[in-house]
Amino acid sequence: MKKYQVNSSGGNYDVVIDSGLLEHIGALIQTSISVKKMIVITDFNVDRLYADIVMNSLERAGISAAKYVFNPGEENKTIQTVLQMLDFLAQQQMTRSDVILALGGGICGDMAGFTAAIYLRGIRFLQVPTTILAAIDASVGGKTAVNLSAGKNLAGAFWQPSLVLCDPQTFSTLPPTVFSDGMAEMIKHGMIADKTLFHELQENRPENNWENIILQNISIKAGFVARDTRDTGIRQLLNFGHTFGHAIEKCSYYSISHGHAVAIGMMMAARAAEKKGICLEPVTEPLKSVLDRYHLPTDCPFTAESIVLAALQDKKRFGDRIQLVLPERIGQCLLYPVVIDDLADFVNSGIRKD
Ligand SMILES: NC(=O)c1ccc[n+]([C@@H]2O[C@H](COP(=O)([O-])OP(=O)(O)OC[C@H]3O[C@@H](n4cnc5c(N)ncnc54)[C@H](O)[C@@H]3O)[C@@H](O)[C@H]2O)c1
Repeated sequence: MKKYQVNSSGGNYDVVIDSGLLEHIGALIQTSISVKKMIVITDFNVDRLYADIVMNSLERAGISAAKYVFNPGEENKTIQTVLQMLDFLAQQQMTRSDVILALGGGICGDMAGFTAAIYLRGIRFLQVPTTILAAIDASVGGKTAVNLSAGKNLAGAFWQPSLVLCDPQTFSTLPPTVFSDGMAEMIKHGMIADKTLFHELQENRPENNWENIILQNISIKAGFVARDTRDTGIRQLLNFGHTFGHAIEKCSYYSISHGHAVAIGMMMAARAAEKKGICLEPVTEPLKSVLDRYHLPTDCPFTAESIVLAALQDKKRFGDRIQLVLPERIGQCLLYPVVIDDLADFVNSGIRKD
């Protein structure tokens, strides 16, 4: 078992990583926070695999729990789904002392977290991530959101969980593409903050070392969150690959998953940075080889024009500038504001392979 304390201006909380944790999750919750009543929010896939284990464990620990199950998929990460969750909480007469448990991937955590942030002006929630991406990224840091038709994650709130409980055994049932999605975010952490992690991912598979590698990744993410909870400065380095990645997701009408889009976005940022002399060492080739290793795509299937159009609607736009994150070397990136008029040039350099 590994434990890590996340410090943020929205409150401090523990992350517990333990293989097999779901079986005794009720007892674990009772030793950490006092709770009598919970709503478990999960999607249909995770419900089928893990909800019974969790509900039974909560019951054994004396916690009265009901379950809300939603349809998986980015197209359902909407305000309408959140409204249904809110109605369910109201029907169940949830009060301010009650708690939401988000059991699932990043979509579940983002929507259950947003619901927790606005129900009764805010109730406690727990993150129980069941994807690699949710474990190392989405469950930590307190960003919650839904998509709007104009783009991804455009409505949301900062709302920190009270506790994050991660059982790496759940990763054994992940479909291969969802597995790869999580690896893209791990590679991103290596690229922005930890060259040792990057080289480890180049040489070893993570499967036999989940607890350590999840801990390593959470400490990277939490380090940024502690220094910049509201995401106005250094935390934006975590957006490496995301400005172009979000544009790719949007251009594909979300048929390209988040992690796959981020992989392409990282490659575009690396190619552009290398061509513009921003890199202090070669980054494109090592990045490509590690993305290949985890079956992640590296080429953008859309035109530069469509990517620019989609990127201009991104949250990372500030007036006439858009914030890019570009690599200087493996393990080190920098924030690089680009005036909108120069964006097309960066995107072109990022797409072209020459
Ligand atoms: N809040 C943040 O800081 C943050 C950070 C990164 C990403 N995100 C968001 O996270 C979302 C992506 O998260 P994700 O990749 O976890 O996707 P997801 O939540 O859609 O899960 C992917 C798929 O895997 C299934 N699944 C989940 N756990 C499983 C398991 N253990 N076994 C089998 N199937 C399982 C789900 O049902 C779903 O079909 C995006 O919406 C992204 O915007 C948020």
